[in-house]
Amino acid sequence: MLTRQEILRALTTSDSGEVEALFLEADRVRREQMGDEVHLRGLIEISNICGRDCLYCGIRHSNPSVRRYRMTPDEVVAAAGRAAALGYPSVVLQSGESDVYSPDEMTELLGRIKSLHRLALTLSLGEKPREVYAAYREAGADRYLLRFETSSESLFNRLKPDSSLRERLECLHVLRELGYQVGSGIMVGLPGQTPDILADDIELLRELDLDMIGIGPFIRNPDTPLAGKESGTLDLTLRVLAILRILTRNTHLPATTAMGSIDPQGREKALQRGANVLMPNVTPTEYREHYRLYPGKICLGDSPETCASCLTTRLATLGRTVAKDPGHSRKVKSGSQPGTTASRGRDR
Ligand code: 5AD
Ligand code: FES
Repeated sequence: MLTRQEILRALTTSDSGEVEALFLEADRVRREQMGDEVHLRGLIEISNICGRDCLYCGIRHSNPSVRRYRMTPDEVVAAAGRAAALGYPSVVLQSGESDVYSPDEMTELLGRIKSLHRLALTLSLGEKPREVYAAYREAGADRYLLRFETSSESLFNRLKPDSSLRERLECLHVLRELGYQVGSGIMVGLPGQTPDILADDIELLRELDLDMIGIGPFIRNPDTPLAGKESGTLDLTLRVLAILRILTRNTHLPATTAMGSIDPQGREKALQRGANVLMPNVTPTEYREHYRLYPGKICLGDSPETCASCLTTRLATLGRTVAKDPGHSRKVKSGSQPGTTASRGRDR
């Protein structure tokens, strides 16, 4: 267990030996807790329409250069079918924050996917009222991803002017109460983020006792108000990842697209420093280029099938295997169904 002092040291040290030791320990804990299997979750970016104006985000409401799209329910069902055909046991439906799918439409869509395929269903659709989260859960959603992005209230208010940290954390609480497996996360290297803030982020992520934690480097986007700021670095992102693996033991930690976009080997490096999940893009090629949160996003011209074979090759070079099971939370006690309000075991 790392103390706050040790976390700060791991984030800031320029001693390459210490950093190497951190990475080796994270890889050891990953192998001990999660094994060599990598869980694949197919990501479907169902709509880039967004009502909010986060300063970092390429699909923010007031970016006029985005061509907005909304996949039809039939297209989403077909994309989920393609993911299932590729052998992915799980899909994530992600969108900007909006009401372009009514709750009824979304619950019907979830029901259709669930009845056609044995897929674990994850949603990443932003903040919603409790009743809506409850309806999605009822319709078959197993998991929900909602990053809080930064634990600093002042930084949050600056970067997400039409949102509040308190409300976002409340959403995470509601999702947990409704029996979702819950994921959250942050960006690393946000303008104004200090080592102290990052240490607070890490401590909050640990306290929330999450089932999944997704992190990635902030990548500056020329179409946003943060155009002139520095991007985060892969090095610092990997340190945060390694610390999170050591602290949270059996949480699912993805090697994220942003890591792979900032460095061609970013995802491989992450898988060797604590990560155990990959999220191959299964968005139809025609829509991908419009879901551009940041520049340099990988796989924009590729098809779901191309991404699948690319990742299989990449994993083989690392000596890692692909998990066949849906990779439910390790924090759910064995014997309890992810479809129920599972009793959450504390195995640490
Ligand atoms: N750079 C890196 N990550 C970003 N995200 C949004 N914009 C950027 C950016 N410019 C991340 C946020 C969001 C997730 C879907 O993508 O953390 O939660
Ligand atoms: Fe869309 Fe932030 S700009 S959620």
